[in-house]
Amino acid sequence: MTIVKKCLFPAAGYGTRFLPATKAMPKEMLPIVTKPLIQYGVEEAMDAGITQIGVVTGRGKRAIEDHFDISYELEHQIAGSDKEELLSSTRDIMKRCTFSYTRQVEMKGLGHAILVGETLIGREPFAVVLADDYCVTEGDGVLAQMVKLYEKYQCSIVAVQEVPKDETYLYGVIEGDLEADNIYRVRNMVEKPAPEDAPSNLAIIGRYILSPDIFDVIRSTPPGKNGEIQITDALQLQAQQGRVIGYQFAGRRFDCGSIDGFIDATNYTYKAQTK
Ligand code: UTP
Repeated sequence: MTIVKKCLFPAAGYGTRFLPATKAMPKEMLPIVTKPLIQYGVEEAMDAGITQIGVVTGRGKRAIEDHFDISYELEHQIAGSDKEELLSSTRDIMKRCTFSYTRQVEMKGLGHAILVGETLIGREPFAVVLADDYCVTEGDGVLAQMVKLYEKYQCSIVAVQEVPKDETYLYGVIEGDLEADNIYRVRNMVEKPAPEDAPSNLAIIGRYILSPDIFDVIRSTPPGKNGEIQITDALQLQAQQGRVIGYQFAGRRFDCGSIDGFIDATNYTYKAQTK
């Protein structure tokens, strides 16, 4: 049985919706209460048994690398104090995970960012997390749910969620046949359709398991919407061959790439932590 051992974090985008906060700081380092978005993503990967983390970064993103490394001065400063506990989660991550990084020099879209990550992944199935989609669940994390599905279906899997029809233009949207509870065999997918062109209200959110042939498919995918190489366009080819599953996951997702979603996630998490 093939298992998913690696997770890729495309994190090269400019995060323009959060300017000026993201002028010199990566969007992925914005904190939900005290933890940066990307740390939640890495913890979700660990929860799915994945410990090899690859990050596609860009200019001005060095804080991500520093976050998953030791800060000797800080460690020395708080040694023996009750503040040490606050670093236990990052210490645990560093003990269990390996991190590798590569840079996307030109931001040519999510599909392109994933292709840039090929050097970190090689020829094996892998997970992709967009850290600005922050997901909370009662039981297994979203990625853990998807890894289990991969063991059964052995093909690409996209996480989907119902969205209001007038918001389809913000997402990749799938059309598929219900195969089992919450599981669709995807026939067609459209990037950011106008509501009248949307084939359904099932939108793809930032969690994927991709089969390794996706890299070859992306290589031959021309730029699409906004002149960017879209992962949805590449997945469309696999979908036409019946090799994409849409999974309506159990849990709640906050779009932390938008200000409203970010504030909702912050309030939700703060309440959960102070309950
Ligand atoms: P977004 O479009 O949500 O991120 O891309 P953005 O461009 O950083 O945000 P705004 O719209 O300017 O505020 C989704 C994900 O894909 C990554 C982003 O980092 C984000 O995690 N991405 C996007 C890349 O890594 N490279 C790209 O060329 C585009």
